[in-house]
Amino acid sequence: MDDEYIIKHNTSPTFFLIKLISSMLYKGPTMELCDHTHDVSQKLGTKRLTGKVAIVTGGARGIGGATAILMAENGAHVIVADVLDEVGANLANSIKGLYIHCDVSKESDVESAVQLALSWKGKLDILFNNAGILGYLFQVSTHMNDIQLKQTCFYANGLEFVTSSLYTKVSGSLCDSILLILLDSGRSITNLEMKKLSTLINVNINGVIHGIKHAARAMISVGNKGSIICSSSSAAIMGGLASHSYTLTKGAILGISRSAACELGVHGIRVNCVSPHGIPSEMLMKAYREHLGKSDMTIEEVSNIISEEGSLLHGKCGSFEDVAQAVLFLASDESGFITGHNLVVDGGYTSASVLMSFIYRDKMI
Ligand SMILES: NC(=O)c1ccc[n+]([C@@H]2O[C@H](COP(=O)([O-])OP(=O)(O)OC[C@H]3O[C@@H](n4cnc5c(N)ncnc54)[C@H](O)[C@@H]3O)[C@@H](O)[C@H]2O)c1
Repeated sequence: MDDEYIIKHNTSPTFFLIKLISSMLYKGPTMELCDHTHDVSQKLGTKRLTGKVAIVTGGARGIGGATAILMAENGAHVIVADVLDEVGANLANSIKGLYIHCDVSKESDVESAVQLALSWKGKLDILFNNAGILGYLFQVSTHMNDIQLKQTCFYANGLEFVTSSLYTKVSGSLCDSILLILLDSGRSITNLEMKKLSTLINVNINGVIHGIKHAARAMISVGNKGSIICSSSSAAIMGGLASHSYTLTKGAILGISRSAACELGVHGIRVNCVSPHGIPSEMLMKAYREHLGKSDMTIEEVSNIISEEGSLLHGKCGSFEDVAQAVLFLASDESGFITGHNLVVDGGYTSASVLMSFIYRDKMI
């Protein structure tokens, strides 16, 4: 037995007393511990992305908007890249960042966003590949009843239908009935329309690939390390949480992120995913309203459903801030040894079932 083993494993009262007294007399390690604790609290109090340059796709609102704000609060120079020009530009102005119109399904748009970062600050440190859609939904301008509306439209069979946020405004119109018919078809795998699926793939998968490709090129060419974070979903982890099409796109994002992490590690570029679940954004509200057929459903109602049925943390529903904090961690140097990872922000929902939680209840004697 060597000395170190004896010191660690000797449990006699005398030896314990000697250890206690010597630890009281010897201040070295104790001081070190105090200093270390102090360091950590200081670090947590400081800005975590000082001087970093970040692009947030889909950064005009929702999870992307909250993350753009949090990154800026942490000292990053942020470019908001979205198709919602007015909302995106206002948000970018409010955080002293830049806005660029960028439809992630177009490779040239994503390339331009990356070039903007290089011409603005000479580098790109962070890409949050967040833009995504749930169904066959687009943000476009359209004319309807002589009112010019900027809203979400529904494309099918080459036709354009108005839906979602302004749904109530067009209530009673022909669109309502057409929309309901459309929603009731194409949900089953046996009716999946490949043309509609390719629309979703263009935004959710190709958009993410465009981002990884051009961000990695820029990071490698400048020679700085970087962090790329892609938005996957709880739907990529277990079936039954979203449409077949959405589920497959989010699964693909996990795959490409891991393989990109494998290649880009030698350049010091980390690629990770964040997988939100049940965050009542415009996107999720639309889904609930349309699927449950309740166009006036409130955020509170949806939050209550999720906190009761979609989370192990009873009474807690996820928020934009919850996801933004996870992304901030992956973007910052504090996650410097983490790559190829999927950080799931789901209140534990995909980790365990509460159906048999009675087995943990102690019996009263
Ligand atoms: N809300 C949730 O519960 C949840 C769960 C899992 C994953 N996600 C993912 O999080 C991401 C953000 O979604 P959200 O919930 O904040 O929804 P959201 O609809 O509020 O935000 C999506 C943003 O992406 C933008 N966008 C859409 N298509 C685009 C395109 N082609 N090019 C550029 N920007 C585009 C929208 O304009 C919007 O600003 C999405 O990828 C979504 O799939 C959300």
